[in-house]
Amino acid sequence: MTHGSSRRRAPRRTRTAITVAAAGALAAAAALAFSPTAQAADTLGGAAAQSGRYFGAAVAPHLGEADYESTLNREFSSVVAENAMKWDATEPSPNQFSFSGGDELVAYAKEHGKSVRGHTLVWHAQQPGWVQGLTGDALRQAMRNHITKVAGHYTGQIDSWDVVNEAFEWDGSRRQSNLQKQLGDGWIEDAFRTAKAADPKAKLCYNDYGTDGINAKSDAIYRMVKDFRARGVPIDCVGFQSHLASNSDLGTYRQNLQRFADLGVHVQITELDVGGSGTAQANVYRQVTQACVAVARCNGITVWGVTDKYSWRAQETPLLFNDSYQKKEAYGAVLAALNSAAS
Ligand code: G3I
Repeated sequence: MTHGSSRRRAPRRTRTAITVAAAGALAAAAALAFSPTAQAADTLGGAAAQSGRYFGAAVAPHLGEADYESTLNREFSSVVAENAMKWDATEPSPNQFSFSGGDELVAYAKEHGKSVRGHTLVWHAQQPGWVQGLTGDALRQAMRNHITKVAGHYTGQIDSWDVVNEAFEWDGSRRQSNLQKQLGDGWIEDAFRTAKAADPKAKLCYNDYGTDGINAKSDAIYRMVKDFRARGVPIDCVGFQSHLASNSDLGTYRQNLQRFADLGVHVQITELDVGGSGTAQANVYRQVTQACVAVARCNGITVWGVTDKYSWRAQETPLLFNDSYQKKEAYGAVLAALNSAAS
């Protein structure tokens, strides 16, 4: 009796059904093994890291609040001080520096393995009173000293600095701030060169809002960055604040990021929040995240706060966690978009 003859063979159609089922099972197993969901991360920072990116949050002085700190620890891989590193907070009096708020955040980040964005060295807003009265070279020296001392204090600890914040108007002209009026067009280049000398390692960023597509303002910034890159002015990054609404038109958002990236700089979404709620809000968050992960040089996204509860625009519930630190629909949209980039 041969080994095969002792068993009755199943009828042909049964054998076929078994073969098909087995093939299906194998295909399913293979799909699971290689599908993005197989490596899907369950935190924003973890999901972003799969494609070599960070996902951060602006931090206000609420680290003593358990839910705030646990959410920040779990979800975010980068932090930025919402206010503690601004000029009014760090140099309240001429050449008298106060780094306590920023130092606390940098220490927290180091303890929890997170990177740090610096915000912001030179801005027309939140200047201490003594700066606003300065003119001509006194203002130039004060700006240079501020950049040198603050960037110098944090040198080697900041991944990216917002060196200059919000220097352009909607029509692409320069904002007529005290800095522009007193120092002329060269003040932005001056600020970047000073920052480079103070912290050679940090990515040096220009940061602004209303640049969420190709428009007169982003065109003007594009021309400036192109000129800087051509002349060797040390700029490494452009920040897109992206303070948005649920009906924001993002039709040229990705193209805009890509054209800046094509200049050889990183692009970063630096202050993302989206007024609104539900699916409309989630869709905007999804589009922004998908645009960033589609652009190789978009190396990270920062939302402008941990929870709606403490948002500067709290009434619009713009963030990914609600007042009770529950994940919102927008959270799931962002996580899915980050995980899909991992594949
Ligand atoms: O620290 C003082 C406190 O001592 C005082 O009692 C209190 C009441 O007057 O004010 C506190 O300072 C406030 C500060 O936030 C810290 O809470 C300022 O008044 C307030 O104007 C400041 O608002 C910040 C705003 O920048 C300043 O323009 C917001 O929190 C912050 O979210 C917002 O962030 C900016 C970015 O830096 C740049 N891009 C736009 C974005 C939104 O405006």
